Amino acid sequence: MTSDVPSQTPPSVAEALADNLANWDERARLHVASYRAEAFADDPEALELVARTSLELMKPHLPGGSLAGLDVAHLQCHIGTDSISLARMGAYVTGVDFSGEAVGIARRLADRAGVADRARFVRASLPEAAAALGGRLFDLVYTSVGVLTWLPDLSEWAAAIDSLLKPGGLFFILEDHPMLFALDWDEERGRLVAAHPYFHQPEPTTWADGWDYSSPERLRNQRSHGWAHPLSETITVLLDAGLRVESFKEHRTMFWEANEAMVGADGEWTLRDHPERVPLMFSLAARKPA
Ligand SMILES: C[S@@+](CC[C@H](N)C(=O)[O-])C[C@H]1O[C@@H](n2cnc3c(N)ncnc32)[C@H](O)[C@@H]1O
Repeated sequence: MTSDVPSQTPPSVAEALADNLANWDERARLHVASYRAEAFADDPEALELVARTSLELMKPHLPGGSLAGLDVAHLQCHIGTDSISLARMGAYVTGVDFSGEAVGIARRLADRAGVADRARFVRASLPEAAAALGGRLFDLVYTSVGVLTWLPDLSEWAAAIDSLLKPGGLFFILEDHPMLFALDWDEERGRLVAAHPYFHQPEPTTWADGWDYSSPERLRNQRSHGWAHPLSETITVLLDAGLRVESFKEHRTMFWEANEAMVGADGEWTLRDHPERVPLMFSLAARKPA
């Protein structure tokens, strides 16, 4: 995360989502190489770290501590590497993403991995996911890492989750902490500074540097727009949708290098100095009443 674009006319929600779609379509193509996705698909033992970490956190909330046999809706599944991991852990996964490129790549990877019968993919934007899945209900609705900031309206997101869950079903999210998006690296002072909104604003923050978190390549579709959603908003929309929170945690590590204040390797990053000062991720499990 680097500089945003100050004082331009803010885009409409439709314009922002169109920019985001072009940006994510391009990233999906780029990520086949930068995620080493084909090698991942070819190794039947391979499981993404995000999915492994999620399973550990979800275990106390799952029947028998396992995903075996569960119907899972994976929201904002991107190119499907986490979805394939969940399928390899025994789930029947339906991944949903608004990027046609991401969904096409995810289908090809699931086919290549030999799990196309248990990892299927549907193109749909949030909040239209429930309608796109034709009223199907799931044991688990799962989403992770880099998802909420792309959504202008979390009430619609929570309503979609509620309408996808069976009564008694579980929702789980492992996500970058919104505090992280309020901070930026100040090169001159060599420290993190509060540079962006933490609390929700109607206008998104616009990023125009074409930077991608997994690749040194610059994107051609450079503009993307993210909306700030404080933790209180995320929890409140889920409660308002009728879900009951079963666990909530904040974490000192994350899976990617969000700024120059971080150290790490192999997908585990933390703040170099004072990691006790800023949360980097949060996780939450909530249940739809039976
Ligand atoms: C950071 S990625 C999620 C990454 C995923 N955890 C992974 O690494 O595989 C965010 C995903 O959200 C999707 N997305 C962004 N805005 C969306 C929207 N409005 N509706 C549905 N999907 C959206 C993008 O296409 C992208 O695949």
